[in-house]
Amino acid sequence: MNFRLSQYDAISWLKSIESESVDLVVTDPPYESLEKHRKIGTTTRLKQSKSSSNVWFEILPNERLEALMSELYRVLKKNTHCYIFCDQETMFYLKPIGEKVGFKFWKPIVWDKQRIGMGYHYRARYEFILFFEKGKRKLNNLGIPDVLGYPRVHRGYPTEKPVDLAKVLIEQSTSEGELVIDPFCGSGAFGVAALELDRDYWGNDTNAEAIKLTSTRLNQL
Ligand SMILES: C[S@@+](CC[C@H](N)C(=O)[O-])C[C@H]1O[C@@H](n2cnc3c(N)ncnc32)[C@H](O)[C@@H]1O
Repeated sequence: MNFRLSQYDAISWLKSIESESVDLVVTDPPYESLEKHRKIGTTTRLKQSKSSSNVWFEILPNERLEALMSELYRVLKKNTHCYIFCDQETMFYLKPIGEKVGFKFWKPIVWDKQRIGMGYHYRARYEFILFFEKGKRKLNNLGIPDVLGYPRVHRGYPTEKPVDLAKVLIEQSTSEGELVIDPFCGSGAFGVAALELDRDYWGNDTNAEAIKLTSTRLNQL
């Protein structure tokens, strides 16, 4: 397998995956507090039309986070890593849930977007990437810092993440030929990173536009 894409609810999709079959999770869930960023205009909408009524992608309610984390833990092989993008509010929900389902929580990694964004009360410049571990796995490069500076993606898919940022995480926690999954793939940025590093990739998203975009990007590599 090189890459595969699916279009299901993330938790249902994970339930269909064999236990202990995945080498790495890198994902960016549509966490509930994104609604707040959306209200103050810090995130873009899906470009389905040119009108102002463009829709926003579905949000995953906090009450589903335990089911999500528990499935991620089940599908990961022993001695693997799991990276989850989130903001400071969701971090406080996710950490204890991750620990409850069996992960060791190492630390939040900071993604420094290098330029301030919209909003107020200290304008947003960073996001967290929660670093969890199942069993014990050594990072491939012990010299990488916990603040990673990569400019945000402009005019991309809403909340699109930089490919080079994802490459750091994938290189740190997998070897060539291992399988990386993303249950909320959006534009497929983590898939591009995985394939460019010769890893296998399986992405999923409920949104048809996201799957179309990811498929186009990955087929062009
Ligand atoms: C934060 S975005 C991911 C952005 C992606 N990391 C990128 O770089 O483009 C979250 C994605 O989750 C999808 N989504 C929302 N609810 C979902 C669900 N229940 N299952 C799977 N995907 C879902 C949305 O359509 C959206 O594309």
